[in-house]
Amino acid sequence: MHSELRDRATQILVQNDRGGYTVPTARLYPYQWNWDSAFAALGFSEFDRDRAWRELETLFEGQWADGMVPHIIFRRDDPDYFPGPAIWQSGTTPPSSGHSQPPVVASIVRHLMETGGPEDQERAKLLFPRIFAWHNWFHAKRDPDGKGVVGIVHPWESGRDNCPDWDIGLNRIEVPADLERYERRDTDSVDPAERPTSSEYDRYLTILKFGRECQWDQEKIARVGPFFMADPGIQFILLRADRDLSHLAELFGFVEQREQIRRWIERSVQGCETYWNEAAGAYCARDLRTGEFSNAMTNISMLAFYAGAGSATQRIRLIDHARDILDQCQYGFPSWDPRDDKFESKRYWRGPVWAMANYMIVQGLTDCGEFALAERIKTDTLKLIEKSGFCEYFDPMTGDGHGGTDFTWTAAIYLVWSRATPSSRAA
Ligand code: DGY
Repeated sequence: MHSELRDRATQILVQNDRGGYTVPTARLYPYQWNWDSAFAALGFSEFDRDRAWRELETLFEGQWADGMVPHIIFRRDDPDYFPGPAIWQSGTTPPSSGHSQPPVVASIVRHLMETGGPEDQERAKLLFPRIFAWHNWFHAKRDPDGKGVVGIVHPWESGRDNCPDWDIGLNRIEVPADLERYERRDTDSVDPAERPTSSEYDRYLTILKFGRECQWDQEKIARVGPFFMADPGIQFILLRADRDLSHLAELFGFVEQREQIRRWIERSVQGCETYWNEAAGAYCARDLRTGEFSNAMTNISMLAFYAGAGSATQRIRLIDHARDILDQCQYGFPSWDPRDDKFESKRYWRGPVWAMANYMIVQGLTDCGEFALAERIKTDTLKLIEKSGFCEYFDPMTGDGHGGTDFTWTAAIYLVWSRATPSSRAA
């Protein structure tokens, strides 16, 4: 079973390879997605290190002049996906979307270096300035007042498109009468009950229209655009990535950059307090226009450990809270608290379990010595894949798989976690 599944995971990565970049899954997502590519590189590193680096290098072919690495890179027009390049009108080569996605890359690069040799060092060194420019873009353009709180201008920028976290910001958006008519394509291949609603899509398109009409003026989008929210996911993933980038800077002797990264980290550590919702006992999203908090704990709240954020008291509360949530489900970690009214066990980011989120949670918990909890979440992830295959996401109550199938990042996490090491479950 175990070696068959490993073969299948390898096959999925190979079959989703479009020549130097990988699609998350055929049809539903037919382009290169930013954080999907980072996890694809992690998966490839298990059997083809050159291909792992190519994945990251092709991702940076889409980097904008200001440092931003967009969330989708469109190398050709594909009728299976909406909204494609003609809607975004990025004016870049290659064409792309107009905002970013969680910056996992630096952490994956560190992993590649720590599991590799001199050639990995060489390739990491070549990528370093590009990653640095991207982090700099996040700190400058998504935190325009330098508060240490990195915002998102679109739910798609968080990668957690329809999480109830974003309901607060989306509900404030009025859909303009002149919003172009459009036809969704995602619901051709996935049950609409597992995807965002049409009211959410109208608002996604309204934000996109604002960006396109101001020609992706990022300062303007952050300051006066229709949506600007603080996402604990971006905050924690960037903080971890900054720490990993600092490690690389030290290794390569990049003194100035290291000093700059140190300042980013210092500011972000303070900024994390903005996300702490005392009433909810967790780090939560927050509307940066109104200050309003989202009120429930998500899988992403758990990335405080991954980021090395929070006081001892906050961490204890998070762990207790996590245990309560896990008591409610068969498989952890759900993307929304099952005790809350908004929980939907099959709908995308409103409840399902995601393998790559679990991967980051487990890394953080392990770093902090929370081994039992880490083991539960890792074991659940492997069981989900063994039961339901390499789906995009899983129902925390039944373990059924949903969304796209033959999914790149689910295969990648399986490859890393099922490797036979003395501490792994499969050994
Ligand atoms: C989608 O199309 O659902 C993607 O998540 C947007 O990035």
